[in-house]
Amino acid sequence: MAKAAIMGFGTVGGGVYDIIDASREKVSLNAGEPIDVKYILDIRDFPNHPRKELFTKDFSDILNDPEVTVVAEVMGGLHPAYEFTKSLLENGKSVVTSNKELVATYGTELLAIAREKNVNYFFEASVGGGIPVIRPIHQCLTANNILKIAGILNGTTNYILNEMITKGKAFADALADAQKLGYAERNPAADIEGHDACRKIAILASLASRNFVDYNDIPTEGITEITLDDVNCAAKLGAVIKLIGYARFLEDGKVFSIVAPMLIDKSDPLSGVDGVMNAVMITGDSVGDVMFYGAGAGKLPTASAVVADMIDAVKHCERSKKIFWEKPEKNITASGDDVKFSYFIRTGDSADNIKAAFEDCRFTESAVTGESAFITEPLTAAEIEDRLEKLSSVISKIRVFN
Ligand code: HSE
Repeated sequence: MAKAAIMGFGTVGGGVYDIIDASREKVSLNAGEPIDVKYILDIRDFPNHPRKELFTKDFSDILNDPEVTVVAEVMGGLHPAYEFTKSLLENGKSVVTSNKELVATYGTELLAIAREKNVNYFFEASVGGGIPVIRPIHQCLTANNILKIAGILNGTTNYILNEMITKGKAFADALADAQKLGYAERNPAADIEGHDACRKIAILASLASRNFVDYNDIPTEGITEITLDDVNCAAKLGAVIKLIGYARFLEDGKVFSIVAPMLIDKSDPLSGVDGVMNAVMITGDSVGDVMFYGAGAGKLPTASAVVADMIDAVKHCERSKKIFWEKPEKNITASGDDVKFSYFIRTGDSADNIKAAFEDCRFTESAVTGESAFITEPLTAAEIEDRLEKLSSVISKIRVFN
């Protein structure tokens, strides 16, 4: 029987306990032995929990118990999650996590310690909630050179945008609903300003390139500037607006990444990813496009990925699966200066002004009277800024997904 601990008894931690408890036989069958939760670490009291004897506030109970071989870190945040995880790995215990902030920040070091100690640090739940995407990149797609990863990586923003699109809800109301449903981060700014998606694309880009991609280097725009008028204009075009995490792996070994709201044509499979669902499209040089779709947030979907990691850790006890990336000598983040996107522009300028600034643009019907809307040819960031300076008013500027 493998002994486990859960650190953090919030939404995901509760889900981890519930799945292990409810699926005891299934977990045992898949792990090769039963998994028994011996400790739950949380600073709060849970006097009404049926197994209240499992709760501890003292991390050293877990660290110093030689019986505990696998720990689920689902407490979130950087500290003390980092210190706890490091000590556990150094003590020869495998750790699994849903903590994208920790993986994106300290993953290089923690993965190296796991390798050195012949244990595992798994993080399937850190990206895409319940969607398997870490293992596919690490295992199933390893015969490919990954060319591009693009995904809807944040359930909260996708839920908000979807509520705006389908129900005409105002941004603030949709956000309040996402919080009630338990999708949003403790500080929802991490969702709506794109930082959560940024950490997730940094993890995927690091894993695919085997080189650390620092999320601090990824230009990140959230959805706070997206209005109902933008959404309605996009609909007139047969498109939707989604927050996209995007990474392109260039021939020189560099990686161009960005997080931004993008206009997606309804013919693109990512356009149909609604509500809290996430999807990740990965393009490999041999396999072409593969897409992973599922619940990107929420108690049981995320916990299902955490428990699957715990099962894998028990199965691979004392055998490191060597998931890792390294810190390259030179920063591999591409500046993106020469990366081109088409842009969707809304402006109060006349068609003549627009044509003078943009020779090769496609006018579309705007949903707002007195405005013009158009899509530009593919342009670099410098080129679009240069052209927009020639207009007197720019209401919206949104990249077109490609
Ligand atoms: N706040 C995150 C989201 C939770 O909305 O996707 C899952 O990482």
